[in-house]
Amino acid sequence: GAARRGYHERVVDHYSNPRNVGAFDKEDADVGTGLVGAPACGDVMKMQIRVDEASGKIVDACFKTFGCGSAIASSSVATEWVKGKQMDEVIAIKNTEIAKHLSLPPVKLHCSMLAEDAIKAAVKDYEAKKAKPSLKADE
Ligand code: FES
Ligand code: FES
Repeated sequence: GAARRGYHERVVDHYSNPRNVGAFDKEDADVGTGLVGAPACGDVMKMQIRVDEASGKIVDACFKTFGCGSAIASSSVATEWVKGKQMDEVIAIKNTEIAKHLSLPPVKLHCSMLAEDAIKAAVKDYEAKKAKPSLKADE
């Protein structure tokens, strides 16, 4: 079966055909940006969410990942999962759920951790932006 070949076909699918690769303007008021790195390997993931202010719902998401195939696949899945959800729902997404969905081997768990961290960082960034006064102080 697929497991015996090492990687589940979902990993290969999300790696070869990643969903939602791209970038939003991080200055946009409705965009949250999460940039995280994996200390173990030096890989880096950027995930962005676009939030509908009225409903608090994530209407769009994208990512750019400089990393291994499992990290790319994890970020692809993560962007799929966050779309259409509330921010408090997506911060509950566990890397183990992503890893399970992709049948990642234990040694690749930290790759899915990047995606969990990136989601949380993006939500945090959006919330920090909201908390700031809308007038930009020029320094
Ligand atoms: Fe793509 Fe599940 S196989 S999100
Ligand atoms: Fe570093 Fe996968 S090996 S994120």
